Amino acid sequence: MRTHYCGLIDESLIGQTVTLCGWVNTLRLQSHVAFVDLRDHEGLAQVVIERDNAAAFAVAGNIGNEYCLRVTGKLRQRLSVNDKLKTGTVEVLADTVEVLNAAKDLPFALHENPNEEMRLTYRYLDLRRPEMQAMMRKRIKLVQALRRYLDERGFQDVETPILTKATPEGARDYLVPSRVHPGQFYALPQSPQLFKQILMMAGFDRYYQIARCFRDEDLRADRQPEFTQLDLEFAFVEEKDVQDFVEELIRHVFREVQGVELDTAFPRMTWAEAMRRFGSDKPDLRIALELIDIADAVKHVEFKVFAEPASDAGGRVAALRVPGGSTLTRKEIDQLSEYVTRYGAKGLAWLRIDDLAKGREGINSPVAKFLDDAALENVLKATGAQSGDMLFFGAGSWKIVTDFMGALRLKVAKDRGLVEDSWKPLWVTDFPMFEYDDEAQRYVALHHPFTAPKVDDIGDLRANAATAVSRGYDMVLNGNEIGGGSIRIHRPDMQSAVFELLGIGAEEAEMKFGFLLKALKFGAPPHGGLAFGIDRIAALMAGTESIRDVIAFPKTTSAQDLMTDAPSMVSDAQLKELHVRVAEPAK
Ligand code: AMO
Ligand code: AMP
Repeated sequence: MRTHYCGLIDESLIGQTVTLCGWVNTLRLQSHVAFVDLRDHEGLAQVVIERDNAAAFAVAGNIGNEYCLRVTGKLRQRLSVNDKLKTGTVEVLADTVEVLNAAKDLPFALHENPNEEMRLTYRYLDLRRPEMQAMMRKRIKLVQALRRYLDERGFQDVETPILTKATPEGARDYLVPSRVHPGQFYALPQSPQLFKQILMMAGFDRYYQIARCFRDEDLRADRQPEFTQLDLEFAFVEEKDVQDFVEELIRHVFREVQGVELDTAFPRMTWAEAMRRFGSDKPDLRIALELIDIADAVKHVEFKVFAEPASDAGGRVAALRVPGGSTLTRKEIDQLSEYVTRYGAKGLAWLRIDDLAKGREGINSPVAKFLDDAALENVLKATGAQSGDMLFFGAGSWKIVTDFMGALRLKVAKDRGLVEDSWKPLWVTDFPMFEYDDEAQRYVALHHPFTAPKVDDIGDLRANAATAVSRGYDMVLNGNEIGGGSIRIHRPDMQSAVFELLGIGAEEAEMKFGFLLKALKFGAPPHGGLAFGIDRIAALMAGTESIRDVIAFPKTTSAQDLMTDAPSMVSDAQLKELHVRVAEPAK
């Protein structure tokens, strides 16, 4: 139908007749001439339709934005060059203009910044926008580069089932009722975790898959109910083997897709250090601010808000120094205090240092009066505070303080432009094996229940479960967890012991994971791996905050597809066939 792409015409074609197909990006209709910017996925071309060409000019009078056209004409030099356009030195003088399809009045102007609900409802129009095309292409290039790298290195791409048994990764399952087995359900995989482990037991040695995962969890900008992993598994490996390999893989794709050279050795940080210094298990190292523990300085003060958690093993008192932060207004401080309540903070104490040399006189703070001279001096010393700084304080349970001070660090840095423009990858290692869930009154796995503990001895693990460290690791980039993995348990006795510690009794373990326990008994090799969140890496590369921008047909934060209107009702006949009855939710 066409000879060239709109976005690829150039001066070498001048004098030739070309045929282009595309959409009307803009239309300027004048009395003697019409200009159409015709757009395809490569870019824009200016088409000139002169009045002398009566047939074509008549067509131009009857078209509008996003009409789909086919234009034939001679390419010529453009009189007024448009520097902003790749094809800005040439134009097509139309000979024929054919309307391939009309377009209704648009629900939103493509060039303006449409709201996301409209964009998702009319996703085909949204995706026509050049910025969306560019972001999607970034993802496509990323996936191509990943595949090429792994194919060249002997990795085997194996597909694993979508209709399967539950694989716990900490979310709820999406279930599919079985028609032929009344009352029974498949679960959609939260990840291919168990299948990839079984592939190692089956002798595949090195596996990868670009795998769709399904998780029914609270959605955010970086979480979708279905998302894509680059899933990897290796037999006969230890942590370093996996980490070194995937680090090189990530460096490779950043070089190839992004033109960015990442550090040659990603820094490593234990989970405990990350939580202590940054209040996060995915620290954004582009931000220089750090949390500083000041419990020792405030243990003995009268102010109970500080003194109690400072002397409690499960408590924490942490400070955040904001250099130059004394310019924060009362209103801004109030807003920050309000912000941290979302993370469970009961308050946010602060101390403004106007003039360090003046001692107490030079300080403005609602809590300074509660701190005796020694405590004040020790706090200033511990934080390295300078004139012009602001100190914020969080006090309370270790978890809440760590969370809200970590969130405060990010918020203040973003608000005040303290985020360096760079790429800061790192490994976070030595995660706790278990986390105690107060509500359920039992341990839950911090990674997943197949992650190996550092200790080999089951008795040792049982005796020290609360402080046990796992062989899990996450790759973090600019404050995003882009990948996570571990060395797996490959001994059936250890796997059973971990299930037991997680409150999964022998019977339940047999019912849910019997196939795994059985497979482990037939000479399972030591193995480990990792999965990357492809959507997250693509979003980082594309420079967008939301993974929805790099997923062609994403869902809203309430898990709806606005274009197809899924999920939706099904017929009674279908439900009956599936042996499903709907209990209407109580109003
Ligand atoms: P994990 O649960 O850490 O590990 O997932 C791996 C990576 O997948 C991405 N990710 C998501 N991306 C978008 N939306 C979501 N809802 C979502 N959830 C996770 C993250 C994360 O780092 N089977 C293990 C991997 C392993 O142990 O090998 C697993 O799934 O970037
Ligand atoms: P109060 O004595 O509760 O009025 O608090 C005095 C100051 O301490 C206020 O500035 C509060 O915001 C702050 N504050 C209260 N609770 C906490 C807490 N858990 N962590 C940090 N600051 C707090």
